[in-house]
Parts: sequence; C-alpha cells; structure tokens
Amino acid sequence: MVSKGIPEPHGGNLINRVLDSSSRERILNDDDILRIHISDDLASDVGNIADGIFSPLEGFMNYDDLIHVLREGRLANGLAWTIPILLDADYSTAVRMKDAREVLLVSNNVIALMHVEDHFRYDKMDIARSVYQTGDTSHPGVAKTLAMKDMFVHGKIDLVSRIVGKEGLMRYRLTPEESRKIMVERGWKSVVGFQTRNIPHLAHEMLQKSVLNFFDALFINPLIGRKKSGDFKDEVIIKAYEVLVDNYYPKDRVLFATLHTEMRYAGPKEAIHHAIMRKNLGCTHFIVGRDHAGVGSFYHPFAAQEIFKDYPDLGIEPVFFPVFFYCKRCMGIVSERMCPHPIDYRLELSGTRLRKMINEGERPSELLMRPEVVDVIMQHNDPFVP
Ligand code: ADX
Repeated sequence: MVSKGIPEPHGGNLINRVLDSSSRERILNDDDILRIHISDDLASDVGNIADGIFSPLEGFMNYDDLIHVLREGRLANGLAWTIPILLDADYSTAVRMKDAREVLLVSNNVIALMHVEDHFRYDKMDIARSVYQTGDTSHPGVAKTLAMKDMFVHGKIDLVSRIVGKEGLMRYRLTPEESRKIMVERGWKSVVGFQTRNIPHLAHEMLQKSVLNFFDALFINPLIGRKKSGDFKDEVIIKAYEVLVDNYYPKDRVLFATLHTEMRYAGPKEAIHHAIMRKNLGCTHFIVGRDHAGVGSFYHPFAAQEIFKDYPDLGIEPVFFPVFFYCKRCMGIVSERMCPHPIDYRLELSGTRLRKMINEGERPSELLMRPEVVDVIMQHNDPFVP
C-alpha cells in the first residue's frame, strides 16, 4: 500500500512544553508560587500536553474550544478534536489560581507550571451528553464528568518534572519525538497504530497481524491509566504484551509502547481522540474494530467506524475491521466476512467474555488466547481493577 510516510503532527507542529533544567531549578526553588494538587489523571494529561501527544493543545482548554469541541467535534480553529481536556477546580481554588496567574501543579511531586488565563463554569451534564451521547450515570464517563468540580481553569502548562511513583508502569512510555525517531530510523513509511485497554486475545492478534501483510509496521500502544472496575490492571496488560510480542511477533516490524491517559469509554468520539494521539506519535494508520472504546451496549458496534466519515481531514487513515471470533468449523479465528458457518459454531472473542471466564476460574483455551498470556494472568492473584 502506498503511503507518504510519517504524518505531520496534528495542527502542523509537535508541541514541546518541557522546561529546560535551569528554568526548572529556578521554579522548584521558588517557595512563593501557589501550589495546587491535581489528580493522577490530570497529571498524565499534563505529560501528554507537554510532550505533544495532545498536539496542538498547549494547556487546558478554554471556553471557546470547549464549546466547539462539544458542538462540532472540532477546536475553535476548526481542527478535529472530540474530547474536552479540562482542568477542574472548586470555586475558591479556581479564583485563587486566576489571581495567582502562575501556579505549580503538584501530583506526588511538582509536575508543571501553569500560566492561568481564565476560569469558567460549564454545565457538566451538557459535556457528558455531548461526549458520551448519554446522560446515564451508569456510564463510567458520565459518572466521572458529573463528579468533576464546578469550575474549569484554562491556561498553558510547562512541564517541570515527570511524575514520580509510577516508574514501573512508565518503562515503555515513548514521547512522539522518540517514537517518530524510531519509525524514521527503521525506514517505516506506513505504521499502523493499535489501541487497546485489554490483555491480548487472538482476535486482537489477528487484527494486528493482518495489517502486517499490507503495511510496514505495527505500533502496539495499550492505554495505561484509569480504567473502570473489572478491567485488567495495567501491569498485567504490559506483562501479557511482553510475552506475546516476545513469542509470536516479528520484532523488526513491531514497536511496543504504552500511552498514559485515562480510558473514557466514549466509543466513537474517543476513537477519533485515540487516532489523533497515534497520529502525533507518528502512525499513518489506525485500527478500529468492533465497539472501539465502548462500554456495555451504549454504542452501536460500528459507530466508532462511522464517525470517521465526518473527519476526512484527520491526517491518519482508519483501518476498519469486522467482528472476529473463533469458528469451530473453520478451526481458526475468522471474521463475519470470511466465514460461511452458522453462529452456533462461533466462540465469541471479547475482553468481557474472557474477564468472565477468568473470574469464574476457567482457564481460557488456546483457541482464544496464547497460553503464555493466560499464564501471566493466572500468576496474578487479582488481575482486575478493583
Ligand atoms: S478498546 O476499548 O481499547 O477499544 P479492546 O482493547 O478490546 O478495547 O480493543 C482494541 C481494538 O480491537 C479496538 O479497535 C476494538 O474495536 C478491536 N477489537 C477487539 N475485539 C475485537 C473483535 N473480536 N473483533 C473485531 N475487533 C475487535
């Protein structure tokens, strides 16, 4: 397949808002700057802004961008963007931040300097309905949005230091500068990004390996960060991919790296967001299969593919897949488009099904999951997010 090579970052420039060491020292030694504590989710997003994973964003969104993202799925300048990136604060904190103008954002350690420009209110249910297309509070994204504090604070950030305390999980994190460099060095002209929040099963593997027939390389990029209760824990996902890639993948054509941000379960809108982040990381293409970033039955299984019609200007090409499953007559992983047999022959392959089997003490068969991956899961006393 023809490809022009590694794409321009979203919006044209790779954002880099990481402070140099002398500015960092000066800021860390200044005891007069207001310090505001932020959640782990926000701290991850600060890192994503600073390293350009969220290019072209340079900070937390203003009112104008928020309105455009919610109403049009685009920033105020018209660039595709579907997920609000917001810093929430209670009223008195927001006022103190605006008065101070320069604020240090603190997680376990000081992570960023924020140049506060404004604060504003916005109806959280309106945000939830637009992003998640539902106001149902049983949707984890809706619940999280409604639990946000009342004000949003807008301003650019500069990264002071990396988050301390999660080094074990960060060992595969790559900045766009790093991933793009590797892709260029390896001479790849077409790289297909794969988003996942799950341990790998054989349908995932089929999706990933199919593209290796047509494109130069595969970028496996599991999402590490807040997930809903019952999803697999981050360290289990990382270990499962270590053994999978080690045993079953052509290493010269695969790059494995983790993406540190929360899972939002926003289905179609999150699929666009996922694609934009992978474009910034250097991918030319992006896999979207069945019920991408979905939860329960909130989204049509192919809504996350349909939405790409609204974004011909995205700058990263989606690669769509139908549903894959194990067919007992075909004796392999096949898709609806490949298999003529009745559905009674099918074994469904989904994270939900595999989580249920493991929860009930059943070892998933080799028809569904690699034994090395099953061993990783079984070695964990509790592989699931509580
Ligand atoms: S997601 O929330 O990150 O989308 P998951 O890790 O299960 O969940 O899926 C990763 C990618 O594989 C998504 O693009 C999803 O649509 C696709 N996928 C997962 N299982 C299947 C399947 N059985 N058939 C087709 N596509 C699938």
